Amino acid sequence: MSVVAIVGAGNLGGAVAQGLVASGAVALPDLRGVTRTPEGAERLRARPGLAGLTVTSDAAAAVAGADVVMLGVKPYALIDVLRALGPHLAPGVTLVSLAAGVGLVDLVAAAPSDSSVVRLMTNTPVQVRAAVSLVAAAPGADDAAVARVVALSDALGSTHVIDESLFDVATALAGSGPAYVFLLAELLRDAAVGLGLDADEALAMTRGMIDGAARLLHASSDDPAALRRAVTSPGGMTAAAVGTFEDAGLRATVAAALAAAVARAAELADPPT
Ligand SMILES: NC(=O)c1ccc[n+]([C@@H]2O[C@H](COP(=O)([O-])OP(=O)(O)OC[C@H]3O[C@@H](n4cnc5c(N)ncnc54)[C@H](OP(=O)(O)O)[C@@H]3O)[C@@H](O)[C@H]2O)c1
Repeated sequence: MSVVAIVGAGNLGGAVAQGLVASGAVALPDLRGVTRTPEGAERLRARPGLAGLTVTSDAAAAVAGADVVMLGVKPYALIDVLRALGPHLAPGVTLVSLAAGVGLVDLVAAAPSDSSVVRLMTNTPVQVRAAVSLVAAAPGADDAAVARVVALSDALGSTHVIDESLFDVATALAGSGPAYVFLLAELLRDAAVGLGLDADEALAMTRGMIDGAARLLHASSDDPAALRRAVTSPGGMTAAAVGTFEDAGLRATVAAALAAAVARAAELADPPT
């Protein structure tokens, strides 16, 4: 089994740590977390299953002897953190960037030449081990190293191995996507409350409806458009609602939203102003 160090085990890195341990993909004694502050370490150890985790602010010590080093710091800090780690990394280490916006070319340039460099983008359902994760490997990355990253990622949900040229688009869809679904849930709940439903009941119905629709989408071989048509009788209630979405330009808005997310990826490696 691999020894895995997560440098920058905050919101995302902490959720990954939790999922790796909960799935049994990494045994607790084989996992190390790095945070900058004692408060960060406390938040990490407070996660279910991680009370006994080795957490340190000494990244150099944490990565010594680790087979896999995951980098979960903010994108603008990533390259500096990676450069500082270089002399402390094990020979042939697998380096996994969890960050959006930092490309393989820059990662490889900052990494030791004998390392295998991989990008792994997961999403917040990683907390319930239902993530959709994206993997892109640098040219020259060892096949066994990439397979090991995919196996770790599969323990957190499902994995799509893609070419890096598609990474930002796939991140805009799968990485940011849960936020779009949560936004829709929020808007539907609020609209139903506006029309008279009790708030708690409206939220319970919204949760159940999205869960059921997601399961049907998953279980059915039909295209989403066919599933939509199946609940949209001509002249009926659903048709009135869907027509309102279409008239308001929802299709163009969704296309513009994904394009905005892709455009933003290019700016993420810049420090915050
Ligand atoms: N949040 C998401 O939903 C999400 C989804 C997909 C991808 N991502 C990616 O995940 C990355 C992190 O985002 P986040 O929301 O998880 O951020 P976060 O909660 O702020 O986590 C950053 C972690 O890095 C630690 N850290 C900061 N500087 C460090 C250093 N120099 N050395 C070692 N550790 C250091 C922080 O420690 P302290 O806690 O002690 O400050 C914290 O544990 C980003 O690159 C982002 O692109 C996030």
